[in-house]
Amino acid sequence: MSRSLQELSNREILIAPSILASDFANLESEMLRVSSAEILHLDVMDGHFVPNISFGVPVIQALRSKSDMLFDAHLMISHPQQYIEIFAKAGADNITVHVESDGDINQWIKQIRAAGCTVGLSVKPNTPASEVIPYLNEIDMVLVMTVEPGFGGQKFMTDMMPKVREIRAAIVATGRNVHIQVDGGISVDTAPIVAEAGANSLVAGTAIFKYEAGAEVAIQSMKENKSLLS
Ligand code: DX5
Ligand code: ZN
Repeated sequence: MSRSLQELSNREILIAPSILASDFANLESEMLRVSSAEILHLDVMDGHFVPNISFGVPVIQALRSKSDMLFDAHLMISHPQQYIEIFAKAGADNITVHVESDGDINQWIKQIRAAGCTVGLSVKPNTPASEVIPYLNEIDMVLVMTVEPGFGGQKFMTDMMPKVREIRAAIVATGRNVHIQVDGGISVDTAPIVAEAGANSLVAGTAIFKYEAGAEVAIQSMKENKSLLS
């Protein structure tokens, strides 16, 4: 199992189960339930950038000792600069920060790289693609939010697909292996829509952990979608 986004192609559909939707009383076994996926998505919320508090460093550290999955930390926090090294040390392999957070985007990118992680930049639904496109030569992933960040179980926003297409086209123009991740309301039903638009990394919480036929079945059926460029 790869521990770097750069060893994975942005033309391949990658599934990233979000542990936020799992049973927190049994985190280790919940993580093992989704171990056929390439990426484990870790939603860190500070109660300030978003109106919810999830979990942080000690939880990621504890999970790290039990898994070899690629750990993808999605930092929904107001001041990423203070925490990047700490999350890298806790075991994150990729760190995604929001362009809407407070601070200097170029500085975060430098810090994340220096900490040995790949770099993701995320945009909330009301933030245009133009806020992230200038950084495509410096980053490894763009995360396009398909719900307002803060809570799992929300309705997928189909109207984010033009943004995904615009970013995919800009990535192709760079010739670089930059992944496009989508997050929020992704399910077996919405996966074909995002894959067709050009997203290749699919975060899903509720639709995997609460899937009736089992998490493994949900992961496999989402993977069967073909991305725009494959
Ligand atoms: C929302 C988080 C998501 C969340 C997705 O702010 O970033 O990762 O876990 O949950 P679902 O898949 O249930 O919409
Ligand atoms: Zn997330």
